[in-house]
Amino acid sequence: MKQIKIGLLGMGNIGTGTYKTLEMNRERITANAGVELVISKILEKDLARKRDVTVTPEQFTQEPADILESPDTDIVIELLGGTEPATDFMLTAMHNGKHVVTANKAAVAANYDKLMGAARANRVMFRFEASVGGGIPILNALTAPLLANEYEEIRGILNGTTNYILTQMAEGGLSYGDALQSAQAQGFAEADPTADVEGHDVANKLSILISLAFGKRVPPEAIPTVGITGLTMRDIEKAAADGGKLKLIALAKRTGGGLEYSVGPTFVPNGHPLAGVRNEFNAIFVKGNAVGELMFYGRGAGPLPTGSAVMGDVIEIARALAR
Ligand code: HSE
Repeated sequence: MKQIKIGLLGMGNIGTGTYKTLEMNRERITANAGVELVISKILEKDLARKRDVTVTPEQFTQEPADILESPDTDIVIELLGGTEPATDFMLTAMHNGKHVVTANKAAVAANYDKLMGAARANRVMFRFEASVGGGIPILNALTAPLLANEYEEIRGILNGTTNYILTQMAEGGLSYGDALQSAQAQGFAEADPTADVEGHDVANKLSILISLAFGKRVPPEAIPTVGITGLTMRDIEKAAADGGKLKLIALAKRTGGGLEYSVGPTFVPNGHPLAGVRNEFNAIFVKGNAVGELMFYGRGAGPLPTGSAVMGDVIEIARALAR
């Protein structure tokens, strides 16, 4: 059977989850891809970390060129996080004719035009489903089955870490600090969780959604953004007394004057479906002028849900290559 060789940049939480997804479902993935997928090289410094997957020392490299320049790499999966060197690595990979899959919302949001342009110029596939909503196939939904719509509104919970913290605090489980620690231990939080709790991670994701749904580039720093660090237990208790919950909500909405967008803590009444979205789950409401209202719901963070989305993109590319 034809083999497709994959180079993995980064084997932290999501890299390990991606590897594990392939290992766990290899037979099904091979059948779906129509080719055998082999992770031949992994760029990673931390070789001591316990990973709970079968990986050999020969797979690891410290040298980006072993993946980016190698004639043996067909697909590069970028899971380093952060804008650089991730963007530079993805551009080099595309320049060298490699297809690229990433979960990196910071890099995609910051360099959307550059990355899309490089994919077009080099005639390679570039996919980033895992960058928004973890395991929820929201980007695919917006850019394939819903293409017949003019989008009117996107509203949702797009960060697992902060939703986990707010849920734990509201339900009396954990304090802010303990909940953040638990989110980090479960692999939900960013390497520097400031991006989560200050709302920047959500702004990155909203920027990507706006590009795809509204065809407009709004850089994340142009989105008015408030995180959850200013919220107190008293705010959360007041929301409960008023019959609702505080949720970190991302909103993009077409108005008479153009497009309105923001990220910030918002009161959601208990009857509203977003109020029932607990812990690391995310949910995204989409309003299209033909389809009406839709809601997408699932795990928005975590190694396996995100690994599922990454591997979905890889399989799509592999299928196209097999054809
Ligand atoms: N830190 C992110 C979150 C990971 O908590 O949602 C998934 O993008």
